[in-house]
Amino acid sequence: MSKFSDYWNYRLPKHADLNKYDFWLEGKLENGKNIKQALDLGCGNGDDTKFLMNNGYSVVSVDFSEYSNDKVSKINKGNTFYFDMSETHSWKVFPNEFFNVVVANLSLHYFDDKTTKEIMKQINRILTHGGKLYARVNTTDEKEAGAGDGEQIEPNFYKNPNRGINKRFFNNEDVIKYFSLVGTVNFTEKVIFMNGHSKPIFEIICTKEAEQTLEK
Ligand SMILES: C[S@@+](CC[C@H](N)C(=O)[O-])C[C@H]1O[C@@H](n2cnc3c(N)ncnc32)[C@H](O)[C@@H]1O
Repeated sequence: MSKFSDYWNYRLPKHADLNKYDFWLEGKLENGKNIKQALDLGCGNGDDTKFLMNNGYSVVSVDFSEYSNDKVSKINKGNTFYFDMSETHSWKVFPNEFFNVVVANLSLHYFDDKTTKEIMKQINRILTHGGKLYARVNTTDEKEAGAGDGEQIEPNFYKNPNRGINKRFFNNEDVIKYFSLVGTVNFTEKVIFMNGHSKPIFEIICTKEAEQTLEK
């Protein structure tokens, strides 16, 4: 257990009390006989897992919070486990080109440059050709969640002991820089309502094209 997973063991029950699921994937997922394997990366309270399961996907739900693992196991029995996406060796559990869909809802903005790039390359590796990553990340306008607050360890990446966790805030260039390691990037800037405040985010859909296998 790391101090960052401890933070989420404490935060996730509060998120569940404060927020209603906003069905952000509604109408976006492709359906089809051969489109069925999904990974919920940093699944938290399991809302996206439930949504994916209700839409016919076989879902693998992973998170490094033990609270999340216990809770989501009850929804997605046998397919939920502890996984720290910042540890490169952890990714070995996933075969190449296995998932049609990877969902990472507000779970990719906690890592330094090197780790973020490695995570994107791993997502590229495990996606099928034509597979998609659906992600949401904080933008640099997300002041409420800490943009510009604390020690800037790297451009747009902040350490702030008062907030308990390191956070990255993305601008347009960052979205392209990181997410193009997964595939062709489409993104929109939106404001959602979360944790009692308006939250500026990027909603990103990346498609792994046939020629975009980066590594095996
Ligand atoms: C803001 S919550 C989002 C949870 C969920 N995706 C949702 O939208 O409700 C961020 C999630 O990412 C998980 N997370 C953060 N860093 C992680 C890491 N290194 N490995 C795995 N999960 C991580 C946290 O435990 C937490 O569940």
